[in-house]
Amino acid sequence: MATLPYKDSNLSKKSQVEEMFDSISPRYDLLNHLLSANIDKAWRKRAVKILSSHRPRTILDVATGTADFAIAAAQLQPDKITGIDLSEGMLKVGKQKIQKLGLDHLIELHKADSESLPFGDNSFDAAIVSFGVRNFENLDKGIEEIFRVLKPEGVFIVLEFSRPRGKLFGSLYSFYFTRVLPLLGRIVSQNNRAYSYLPESVRNFPDGDDFLNVLKAAGFKNCISNPLTMGIASIYKAQKIEN
Ligand SMILES: C[S@@+](CC[C@H](N)C(=O)[O-])C[C@H]1O[C@@H](n2cnc3c(N)ncnc32)[C@H](O)[C@@H]1O
Repeated sequence: MATLPYKDSNLSKKSQVEEMFDSISPRYDLLNHLLSANIDKAWRKRAVKILSSHRPRTILDVATGTADFAIAAAQLQPDKITGIDLSEGMLKVGKQKIQKLGLDHLIELHKADSESLPFGDNSFDAAIVSFGVRNFENLDKGIEEIFRVLKPEGVFIVLEFSRPRGKLFGSLYSFYFTRVLPLLGRIVSQNNRAYSYLPESVRNFPDGDDFLNVLKAAGFKNCISNPLTMGIASIYKAQKIEN
């Protein structure tokens, strides 16, 4: 069964996710950096470093939110970065940040659904997603769409929460993630569900080898995972190599 932001709602997961991120968008960045003690920035930097060896000219940032991953990827000086997201609220914050940083010539943001991307086949050298895939209503469809819009040899980088496997650290982290984080998140975001949905969605997400299998099923090759910070997040890399 799908993990939903609002259990009592009749809306689809997609509509609920959109509504939830619209609601928390003004405080999303603050909470992200606060609740992760800024580690999220280091993780995105690491993912960009992995991407750098592929020298992509065109990059698609799927589920871009407030555009942090797109902004981090700008240091690779590609020709263009396109970010898409369901939530107008998140995109509005992202557009303000891009303008402030003087990056509007390089990064453009659009409202779009990752499960039905408004781009032709073979359009991008690279696709990136940070903390987005877990929120897709139909994970397989989203990954297949990303495969479709990548050029042959194109690279796909995913940064996503995973579950730490070590027993002691796992228990400590689980206490923080399921008790402390939802409480702090609720107080600061003023949204009762968003930061309880977060650990629930991570618990039910197919991480590690299971996510590599999702990538392979969509046709990706050279699929590898890289656990970060004792496994609380992972970077996955895959390539569209057609026979
Ligand atoms: C946790 S935020 C991550 C934002 C950003 N990538 C980051 O690293 O901070 C997840 C984002 O995924 C977006 N999202 C979820 N499902 C989506 C879909 N089907 N299509 C496009 N965006 C989606 C949400 O609107 C939200 O902005």
